[in-house]
Amino acid sequence: MGCRAGLRGHQGSKEEEQLTSIVETGRLRIDGQRLLDRLSALSRVGGIAGTTGSSRLAFTDADRAGRRLVTGWMEDLGLQLSVDGIGNVVGLWLPPGIDPAAPPVMTGSHIDTVGTGGRYDGNLGVLAGLEVIETLAAEGVTPARPLAVAFFSNEEGSRFQPDMMGSLVYVGGMALEEAHAVEGIDGATVGAELARIGGRGPSPCPGPAPHRFVELHIEQGPVLEEAGVGLGVVEGVQGISWTEVVVEGQSNHAGTTPMGLRRDAGYVAAEITTFVRRLALEFGHPQVATVGAIDLHPNLINVVAATAKLTVDLRNTDNDRLLEAERQLARELDAVADREGVSITTRTLTRFDPVVFDPEVVDLVEATAHRLGITTMRLPSGAGHDAQMLARVCPTAMVFTPSENGISHNPAEHTDPADLEAGANVLLHTMLALAAAD
Ligand code: GLV
Ligand code: MN
Ligand code: MN
Repeated sequence: MGCRAGLRGHQGSKEEEQLTSIVETGRLRIDGQRLLDRLSALSRVGGIAGTTGSSRLAFTDADRAGRRLVTGWMEDLGLQLSVDGIGNVVGLWLPPGIDPAAPPVMTGSHIDTVGTGGRYDGNLGVLAGLEVIETLAAEGVTPARPLAVAFFSNEEGSRFQPDMMGSLVYVGGMALEEAHAVEGIDGATVGAELARIGGRGPSPCPGPAPHRFVELHIEQGPVLEEAGVGLGVVEGVQGISWTEVVVEGQSNHAGTTPMGLRRDAGYVAAEITTFVRRLALEFGHPQVATVGAIDLHPNLINVVAATAKLTVDLRNTDNDRLLEAERQLARELDAVADREGVSITTRTLTRFDPVVFDPEVVDLVEATAHRLGITTMRLPSGAGHDAQMLARVCPTAMVFTPSENGISHNPAEHTDPADLEAGANVLLHTMLALAAAD
């Protein structure tokens, strides 16, 4: 016997009334062990030996295996699967009796990882979404509209830029053909790799806008742990600017070329690296700046480097400050090119403005956590997320669980199981409330 959550004054059997009360008092709970078991099983796909982390770069064989595992779980739950042209997978739960045409309340995240990923980044949001649906189905609770759980392709952007590519295409922010043409760090294209792993489906891009979107994710930083609170209520996502910088100098003999006569691309890469760090420190919090990849050529001990290819990642919650950081970087690149006699070219790989989440959904996440007895704090997200793209098409917010020692993009990533469970329960009750609202 089921009940339709969110219908107040529902006149039904005693059993139905009890169930309504379980939902409304927040006593309905996901199965924490089942969530941990799935996280563990998925982490073993592309598992990094000797760690609990994974390497499933977008559109690799490991990504294909992860997709198979998760879509299998979706099928086991009886979800209607749709796969679009960039490989985004949406599992729709349509229990009998609800309007199949009503836009769903959607949750989800990603299952691709950076090359040295942990087991929670992205995966938590997807598997918690499955947990929400499995819990409701097992308890016979029917939400007031369909629910959906999605995993979006290439969220990480480590192999193919930009990051959040799948959700960006889903919301119409990037044309499918443009995304397919993107060349990755290994020279492969998105389109060819997607075809190779059989990841491409017939559903159209952009996809249909959900009624609401809410994503559960680990914080990936130290703020919640330091504050000693149970969950984070995410108010928005900081702006992201990724630039590829190519320095061309001249390779020469390391022993015979006087220091004053060098055009040393390796040295210039080092100058740029120290410059962006100084820039972030001078700007102060929340500006961050990272040179995460440097590729020297010919990369030999006794040869002055001819070329350097490096990446600069700048982020700030304030778009004006981010623009100023970009301007200062551009000025410094001109200046160092002049000083060192090299040529420098740049290419924008990603540029997303800061995003502010929907105040009503943010308030609801917070109120739901408090109703379940969980302490919270509000914070912006330092990392990019699929939710920042979905926010373009529907009211959206996020829930963060604490990250132990603030470690992420590292196989050592860890979150206390009790926090994972609390986050998934807040997701469950938030989704139910969103389904019940107009
Ligand atoms: C994606 O994980 C990013 O924020 O780099
Ligand atoms: Mn993520
Ligand atoms: Mn990530």
